[in-house]
Amino acid sequence: MKAGHIFGGVLIPLAAWVASAQVGTPKPPPLPPLPNVTTQSNSKRPAPTRDDYLGDAACAKCHEEKVDSFHQTAHALTSRLPDKQSILGNFTPGDNIFATSNPELSFRMEKKGNGFYQTAVQGMSPYTTERTEQFGLVIGSGGKGQTYLFWKGDELFQLPVSYWTQLGWVNSPGYRDGIANFDRPIIPRCLECHATYFDSTAPPNRYRKAGFVVGITCEKCHGPGGNHVERETSKTPVTSDSGILNPAKFPRERQMDLCAWCHAGHGTPLLATFSYLPGEPLDHYLELPKPDANAEVDVHGSQVELLARSRCFQSSSMTCLTCHDVHVAQHDPVSFSRQCLACHKPDTAMFPKHDHDAASNCIDCHMPRQDTNLIVFDWKGKKVRPQVRTHWIKVYSTAAGSN
Ligand code: HEC
Ligand code: HEC
Ligand code: HEC
Ligand code: HEC
Ligand code: HEC
Ligand code: HEC
Ligand code: HEC
Repeated sequence: MKAGHIFGGVLIPLAAWVASAQVGTPKPPPLPPLPNVTTQSNSKRPAPTRDDYLGDAACAKCHEEKVDSFHQTAHALTSRLPDKQSILGNFTPGDNIFATSNPELSFRMEKKGNGFYQTAVQGMSPYTTERTEQFGLVIGSGGKGQTYLFWKGDELFQLPVSYWTQLGWVNSPGYRDGIANFDRPIIPRCLECHATYFDSTAPPNRYRKAGFVVGITCEKCHGPGGNHVERETSKTPVTSDSGILNPAKFPRERQMDLCAWCHAGHGTPLLATFSYLPGEPLDHYLELPKPDANAEVDVHGSQVELLARSRCFQSSSMTCLTCHDVHVAQHDPVSFSRQCLACHKPDTAMFPKHDHDAASNCIDCHMPRQDTNLIVFDWKGKKVRPQVRTHWIKVYSTAAGSN
């Protein structure tokens, strides 16, 4: 992606980035209430704190293979500290300028020493004013894109220029082209979905700077690992249970809750963000939009809702884990098709009766990629809508490959 391309318009929000942002307005989204952490804990147990999280290195000693493969996944990479690997945007002079449609506003991205900086340059040369902020955190694996955060004291804000993998530097989602906005606070729910832990000291956006764990780590889904590690390293284990959560042993609803924590929309926190632990009923912590059979569901960020509409899901005990092993990066349609055949077995009544070959790719016809209306770019006068895989498994008349 060459610098100097002009993105001729407004970048409308990617819902999951800033779920409640208004289209085309640079104003921060309305903030969901953040209940008091200490008084509003629902369960008997205390909410986990930063010190309860040991980090993946503590698991690698005994689960090395799982850690290595997991570190290649989008979950592990979804938030990182800024460095040459984690920031995908280009800092090479010439490619490091993002010009807006406003001739009096451009942005410059620079590396100085160990730091990475974003500068808004306003006005006409030589009468320009500048504002510079340092990249503090990187959000997004970059499969689709990344957005960047900066610290002002202990407050976290979004940087105005993001990176979209197909286009390069772009206006951050929900930001109006041609305006430099450094004022959007980063609320805890954003970090709850994209990181393991942040010690939120005061809403909407104050955090303890030594109190966070970036990336979705092993303990996000398995719970703090201290008891388990102690048990596995002591000669005479005192407890009979493993001391760690294994979602394979959860009932179906709790397995779905684990993924719904982050894959069923933004929702409204009912209890302190970062206090939920897998295995507990999610609806005590988070109010998710009520499923409405007639409502339009966008393919982006609503895998739980869409899957729940599928007959496969309704007529079996399917969960997300039927097809996904979150410890490895999976993108091969052939191996996903094998999961379909596990239920729709050839030579049984479950296998489709007409014109079906067991060796075909079931995915592109029955889970086609669809445009999302929640991520729309006005790009050089054209509307660009990225495609997301739908999780409503059914017969599509216009599916790829059908004729
Ligand atoms: C409810 C959980 C949730 C919240 C809140 C949320 N996100 Fe996301 N975000 C996701 C999920 C899930 C995906 C990817 C799956 C999809 O596209 O459906 C995603 C995708 C992204 C991506 C693209 C990553 C890539 O490379 O594909 C970025 C960047 C991102 N989010 C940033 C943010 C930022 C910044 C915030 C807060 C201001 C935020 N998100 C709030 C869950 C969330
Ligand atoms: C000292 C070695 C050791 C360390 C360190 C360790 N584990 Fe384990 N883990 C084991 C062994 C051995 C088992 C199998 C125990 C069994 O089946 O009873 C196990 C089992 C598990 C299970 C399945 C538990 C169950 O109830 O079925 C999970 C999940 C797990 N480990 C996660 C982790 C995570 C996450 C970490 C890092 C926080 C970690 N482990 C650190 C040795 C270790
Ligand atoms: C996004 C959630 C998630 C994350 C992150 C995660 N796991 Fe798991 N883990 C699961 C689920 C769900 C299961 C049960 C189904 C399965 O086995 O895939 C599981 C099962 C396990 C098991 C027991 C089953 C087995 O195969 O022996 C171990 C051990 C384990 N995970 C270790 C880890 C380690 C180590 C990490 C970090 C490198 C990690 N997990 C990260 C969700 C997660
Ligand atoms: C703590 C929040 C969280 C939880 C819990 C979670 N996810 Fe995710 N998941 C995300 C985010 C955020 C992304 C997007 C990461 C990115 O690209 O930056 C994502 C991405 C994914 C992807 C796309 C991976 C890729 O390579 O593009 C799959 C598949 C997925 N999640 C499945 C699951 C399943 C299945 C579960 C339940 C076992 C689960 N997730 C639990 C937050 C979560
Ligand atoms: C856990 C078992 C299971 C898995 C895995 C599964 N299905 Fe199904 N599927 C079912 C059941 C049960 C039905 C309902 C059959 C009935 O009611 O006659 C069904 C129905 C369907 C239907 C008809 C839907 C409709 O609306 O009429 C299609 C198409 C389908 N499955 C395709 C797939 C594809 C493609 C995959 C893999 C991506 C898949 N299924 C994976 C169990 C499964
Ligand atoms: C019947 C099989 C099946 C089930 C069940 C399933 N998925 Fe998927 N999922 C897929 C396939 C196939 C893909 C496409 C993978 C690819 O092309 O890289 C996918 C992709 C994804 C992606 C990436 C979407 C994108 O386009 O970027 C996410 C996120 C995801 N799944 C989450 C979930 C969650 C959460 C659940 C449970 C609510 C779930 N999946 C249940 C088959 C399944
Ligand atoms: C070229 C597109 C295409 C591919 C590939 C495809 N399907 Fe279908 N499928 C359809 C269409 C169209 C229908 C509805 C018309 C029909 O019954 O033939 C259908 C119907 C079904 C049904 C409904 C039950 C029935 O008997 O009609 C199931 C279940 C199903 N497919 C499963 C699968 C599985 C499993 C695979 C992978 C082995 C697969 N499909 C591959 C297009 C496809």
